[in-house]
Amino acid sequence: MTQIRRADRSDASEMAAMRYAFRTELAEPNEPEQEFKARATAWFQDRLTAGSWTAWLAHHPEPEQQYEQDRPVGLVLVQLIEKVPNPVVEPETLGYISCLYVRPPWRGRGIGDQLLGTAVAFCRDNGVESVVLWPSPRSVPLYERHGFRHQAEVMELRVAVKCSPALRPAAEPPSLPIPRLSL
Ligand SMILES: CC(C)(COP(=O)(O)OP(=O)(O)OC[C@H]1O[C@@H](n2cnc3c(N)ncnc32)[C@H](O)[C@@H]1OP(=O)(O)O)[C@@H](O)C(=O)NCCC(=O)NCCS
Repeated sequence: MTQIRRADRSDASEMAAMRYAFRTELAEPNEPEQEFKARATAWFQDRLTAGSWTAWLAHHPEPEQQYEQDRPVGLVLVQLIEKVPNPVVEPETLGYISCLYVRPPWRGRGIGDQLLGTAVAFCRDNGVESVVLWPSPRSVPLYERHGFRHQAEVMELRVAVKCSPALRPAAEPPSLPIPRLSL
C-alpha cells in the first residue's frame, strides 16, 4: 500500500518540514522553526535541481487520516560522492545516505525499510563501492537488516562538534558538492 516516489523541487517545503521534525526529535533546535524551514526549503530546491542529492518520499494512504492522505509520511536522501579516478579495479563512487525519516504515526509498518531499500538499490545501480551513514542508536537494527555493519577502517577528525549559525554554509553552494557528513 505504501508508495515510494522520487522527490523533485516541488516537494522541498514538505522535505524541510520533515527535516525539522526529524532533527528536533533528537535535539533542541538552535534556530527559529520558520527560519530553518525557509533555509532548508531553498537548500532542497537547489540540490534536487542540481542533482547533487537524490531523494524519495513515502506515501501511505490511511482512511482514518484524510488530512495526511496526499502528504508524504517519510523521506530518505542519497548523495553520490565521487572518488578520485582510479587506475585499478575499484569503483569510483561512494554513497552517503541521510535523513531517513518516517513520521511517528506511521512507524513500525515497514516504511523505513522500504525507503532504505530504495536508497540502497539506487546506490547499487550507480556502481557505488560502499554506502556510509550515521545511524541513530535505535535505528541500528534496521540498517543491520540491510547489511550495514560498523567498521573501523575510516579515520575521522571532529573539527566542529557544535554547529553555530556562524558555521553554517553560505547560501550559494560551492561549484562542486562538498559532502557534509552527519545524520
Ligand atoms: C528510523 C525510521 C525511519 C524507521 O522507520 P519505520 O518505518 O518505523 O521502520 P520499519 O518499520 O521499516 O522498521 C522498524 C525499525 O526501525 C527502527 N526504529 C523504530 N523506531 C525507531 C525510532 N523511534 N528511531 C529510530 N529508529 C527506529 C528499529 O530499528 C526498528 O527495528 P526493530 O523493531 O527490529 O528494532 C523511523 O523510526 C524514524 O524516522 N526515526 C526517527 C529518525 C531516525 O532516527 N532516523 C534514522 C537515523 S539516520
